[in-house]
Amino acid sequence: MTEHIAQAKQIISAKIGDFSPDIGMILGSGLASLVDEVTDVTKIAYADLPGFPSHGAGAVTGHGTNLIIGMLGGQKVAILEGRKHYYEDGNPSAMRLPLEVLKAIGVSKMVVTNSAGSMDEKIKPANIMLINDHINYSGLNPLIGQTGDSRFVDMSDAYDPKLRKIMQQVAKENDIPLSQGVYVWYSGPSFETPAEIRALRILGGDAVGMSTVPEVILCRYLGLDVVGLSCLTNMAAGMSDTKLSHNQTKQVAAIGAKKIITLLTGFLQKL
Ligand code: HPA
Repeated sequence: MTEHIAQAKQIISAKIGDFSPDIGMILGSGLASLVDEVTDVTKIAYADLPGFPSHGAGAVTGHGTNLIIGMLGGQKVAILEGRKHYYEDGNPSAMRLPLEVLKAIGVSKMVVTNSAGSMDEKIKPANIMLINDHINYSGLNPLIGQTGDSRFVDMSDAYDPKLRKIMQQVAKENDIPLSQGVYVWYSGPSFETPAEIRALRILGGDAVGMSTVPEVILCRYLGLDVVGLSCLTNMAAGMSDTKLSHNQTKQVAAIGAKKIITLLTGFLQKL
C-alpha cells in the first residue's frame, strides 16, 4: 500500500514536475464534462497508476478512469474522473489509495460530487444539493481494521462549514437554487424500495445515493477538508411514477452538470 502511494506519486511527479495541486475532486456519474473546462491538462490513466481502481467487468458506465491534473477556476486541481463504488466488489475502502496519493501530491481540500435521488418533495430532479451531513445507512466503514487512535475520526462538521458558505455564495451570485441537506449512503447497486425511502426520510435524509460517504470518512481520516455536491437525478423510489434506472441517472446528471460546473468554477475562484 505505502509502496503503491510512493510509486504512483513518482509517476505523477515525473509528468507534472513541481506543479502541486491543492484541490482534489471526485466526479460522480454523468459529470465527466467538467473535465472539458480544465486547462493545462496532464491526463494519467488509472491503469498506469499502481493500486488505482481498475475497472473490469464490473465497471459502471458514466464514470471515467483517468486522473486529470490542471487548472480550473484559477486553482491547481487533481480530478479523479471516476470512483470505484462499494457495490462493485464489496470493498468500502476502494478509493483509499487514490485519496492518499492526492494527499501525497499536495491536495488539502476535496470536492466530492455524486448523483442522488431526492427524498425532499420540494427539491426536484436536475437540482443540486449541498451536502451538510450524512447518514451511513450501510453501516460499513472504510477504516475497519485500521489500527491506532487516529481511526476514531471526528465526523462533526465533516462537510466543512467555511467551504459550504463559499459554495452558497457562489450559488446566490449565479442564481442557482442550492438546497442544503443530509446525504444517505445506501450500498446499492439495486435502488431502494419505497418502504426504505419512507424509513430514510423519517431518519432525516434528504438525498440518497450509493457513494461518497466512505470517501468522506477517508478524507477526514487523512485530514482533507471536504465539500460535497449531489446532483439530484430523480425523485427517490415511491415518490414519483418514473421508473428508476442508471440511464435516467446519467441523462439528468448531464443536465445538472452544467450547474455543477458553474458552482465549482465559481467556488475555486473564491478560494
Ligand atoms: N438512489 C440511489 N442512488 C441514486 C439514486 C437513487 O434514487 N439516483 C441516483 N443515484
